[in-house]
Amino acid sequence: MSVTVLVGLGWGDEGKGRVIDYLAPSHQIVVRFNGGANAGHTVIANGVTFRFHLLPSGMLYADKTCVVAHGVVIDTVSLREEYELVRRTGPPLAKLLISDRCHLALPYHRLLDQLEEESRGQEKIGTTGRGIGPVYADKVARKGIRVCDLFHPDHLRELLTQTVEEKNRLIERVYGGQPIQLEPLYQQLLADAEFIRPFVTNTMTFLEGALTEGQNLLMEGAQGTLLDHEIGTYPFVTSTSPPAGMVSLGSGVGPRRISKVIGVAKAYATRVGAGPFPTELNDTLGTAIRERGKEYGTTTGRPRRCGWFDLPMMRMAAFANSPDEIVLTKLDVLSGLPELHVCTGYQLDGQMVRGIPALALDLERLTPLYQTLPGWKEELGSTHAWSDLPSTAKAYVSYLEEQLQVPIRVISVGPSREQIVVR
Ligand code: GDP
Ligand code: IMO
Ligand code: MG
Repeated sequence: MSVTVLVGLGWGDEGKGRVIDYLAPSHQIVVRFNGGANAGHTVIANGVTFRFHLLPSGMLYADKTCVVAHGVVIDTVSLREEYELVRRTGPPLAKLLISDRCHLALPYHRLLDQLEEESRGQEKIGTTGRGIGPVYADKVARKGIRVCDLFHPDHLRELLTQTVEEKNRLIERVYGGQPIQLEPLYQQLLADAEFIRPFVTNTMTFLEGALTEGQNLLMEGAQGTLLDHEIGTYPFVTSTSPPAGMVSLGSGVGPRRISKVIGVAKAYATRVGAGPFPTELNDTLGTAIRERGKEYGTTTGRPRRCGWFDLPMMRMAAFANSPDEIVLTKLDVLSGLPELHVCTGYQLDGQMVRGIPALALDLERLTPLYQTLPGWKEELGSTHAWSDLPSTAKAYVSYLEEQLQVPIRVISVGPSREQIVVR
């Protein structure tokens, strides 16, 4: 019996899906506990690429159970499309369970996400447009509609009538948008209810039973710690909590059940959407890393901004998650660079900064200080043994490990299942 938690340490897209796929064989159950369809987790299995948004990245293993726990917000249309696509193109799938307590991300949440972004003008967050901010706001304001509501048509109609009326006032009067039509939405939800019904259960009771039976749970975080609205670069953050502390709230598995926390970090930094990024490379090198690393959003296709590894940000993320180990991904992308820079600290107005400033305006003005390390020319994609890595690549990994004071035992050197170096 064990509970392994896997979370992103950066601004998302660290390669969590790929690492879940690697770890899944030693677990019976893979659980999503936060986020929604803003997540995009890529798994390349037997040459076929799968992009998971709401489904856990363990879906390709027929002998597993994949759980979408109550911390996840569900868009039933996305879920249905995603499930049908994976079922058509994938191998026999894992058993899927969805919590009856998940909140629903509805069309008015998407519309409000878009209208709120438009109204921000130059100050856009660059959201994924999946309605995430509005749906989590409703959840906390106790105005949400949940999966369990779908199976009681009269009650659902009542809830929806009240909510759509309120949302339409906001949409029309504040933003001058087009109102949502109640009846088609109601009919669509009744149809989606029939699709989702076979998967729905009390997942907390299921997980409790699974742990009692001695099964191993793998908790799949979405987003990354630097996008957390408590810890991250506020307000350029998401509205769900990516750090390991969310596992217990989002799945119902208490904190003392957690056996191990794994943090996933990319060998360099990326960010998609707006917001401070102190080590960003706004030059041809940044573009070269984007092209080599295929750094385009899995959910939105937007180009990801690229920059150097940022130790102060990663130290904060490591402190927030207390990982037992870090899995380092995309080391192969750095091949061919004559030298690598790692940010060791910042200056603000000529003074050294301790920790990470709270104000985005200050974060935008930081001057990063860099340690330079030698690069390597060799391609790493077919390396399997630590001893076969170039000495400068090993020195780069060892430097990060030493600076973060967290062991790095697993290094990903390509997007496919087998492209992994275990130390
Ligand atoms: P996630 O959101 O953390 O699951 O990450 P994404 O799937 O959004 O983005 C990671 C991207 O990098 C995907 O396209 C992966 O296929 C790819 N990837 C993952 N690990 C590696 C790696 O070690 N090397 C390379 N070159 N690509 C990787
Ligand atoms: P995975 O799980 C990268 C970013 C968006 C935007 C901000 C707020 O694939 O790592 P939201 O739609 O959540 O309100 O957008 O958060 N963002 C992500 N960036 N990876 C993700 O997920 C993200 N989920 C949200 O780009 O900057
Ligand atoms: Mg992603």
